[in-house]
Amino acid sequence: MQITKIKLTNFRNYENQTFNFSNNKNIIIGNNGVGKTNIVEAIYYLALTKSFRTNVDNSLVNNNQDAFSIIGTINDKISSDYKITFDKQTKKVYIDNNQIRKFSDYISNINIVCFNTEDLKLIKDSPSVHRQLINIEISQLDNKYLKTLSIYNKILKQRNTYLKNVNLKENSNKEFLYILTDKLIEYGLIINEIRNNFINNINKYLDNYFKEITGKEGLTLKYISDYNDITKEKLKNKYNKLIMKDINYGNTTIGIHLDDFIFYYQDIIAKNYLSEGEKKNAVIAFKLSEINIFKETTKTNPILILDDLFSELDKEKINKILNLLKDDMQIFITTTDLKHLEEEKLKKSKIFTIKEGKIEETIYG
Ligand SMILES: Nc1ncnc2c1ncn2[C@@H]1O[C@H](COP(=O)(O)OP(=O)(O)OP(=O)(O)O)[C@@H](O)[C@H]1O
Ligand SMILES: [Mg+2]
Repeated sequence: MQITKIKLTNFRNYENQTFNFSNNKNIIIGNNGVGKTNIVEAIYYLALTKSFRTNVDNSLVNNNQDAFSIIGTINDKISSDYKITFDKQTKKVYIDNNQIRKFSDYISNINIVCFNTEDLKLIKDSPSVHRQLINIEISQLDNKYLKTLSIYNKILKQRNTYLKNVNLKENSNKEFLYILTDKLIEYGLIINEIRNNFINNINKYLDNYFKEITGKEGLTLKYISDYNDITKEKLKNKYNKLIMKDINYGNTTIGIHLDDFIFYYQDIIAKNYLSEGEKKNAVIAFKLSEINIFKETTKTNPILILDDLFSELDKEKINKILNLLKDDMQIFITTTDLKHLEEEKLKKSKIFTIKEGKIEETIYG
């Protein structure tokens, strides 16, 4: 899969700008703040309807304007035009000019694997951030996932409201709580299975990639969940035992809404052990593993974005990572300087040089 063209209208610092991309390597060069990340952010946004660095869509609108749009041509055996418009809080998505009402139907179409500094949160941050990041990845692979997750969250909300308000001395009220619990378990188990499959698939590749890059062995990603390795009946018992606690808290204290994904290095939590550069390499190993999963699931290579890959990494690691990338994949790399890259890797790359608001396109070598 490739994005051959993108047209940005009032997106970030681009008032009206079209880029024609290469099907192979695209390298975006320029000083800090010229708008390199903004370009890959637009590609990501077109695929996932959200940014990787903000939840405030208004901040993406060019200063003094009310609306932005992104239009891109995606080539995946056939070519289709994708469009997102954002106008005063209203976001709309289109494929070939037909509006798609359900975002979950739109999101699984363009497959992106993106690495940027935000992704280090996958190792460093809290369980809720880990879940958010993993949810984004899986939602691209399986359009059933987001739908199921949103049903689960609705039932959870209903159950929590019920726990806060209900007088459970009445037997009929208890019955309704049991019904909600059964439904929660039903949808939770579907999510749990999809998450387990995803993490198992990641672990088929993760340690190998980490070893290729760093020479060190023993990286795994563990999926921690109340729903792991347990039958429906045992789960029901667990909820029953916790009913008084749930009522006291006014909250559901077990379930897949509390899952976590934790990187371990040789049975030690990676967050507390690996160096900053190694953490970055661990996340890159995860992203490289994902490329394989995307390829197996969708039968096409995802589009790969490497934003600011080079900071904190030594030249040797950078070039090892680039060596692991397949030649037939479309890649976007942002950097302030070409000196990080071996000449060999640059051949035939399309270079976008951004200087004083002007963009120059050249083919290297
Ligand atoms: N809504 C907006 N309207 C206009 N300009 C914006 C908007 N949002 C951000 N910018 C500008 O975009 C620039 C940042 O762009 P970007 O993050 O793409 O830089 P970069 O080239 O990736 O820099 P670095 O090398 O530091 O990563 C900032 O100068 C900022 O002023
Ligand atoms: Mg940047």
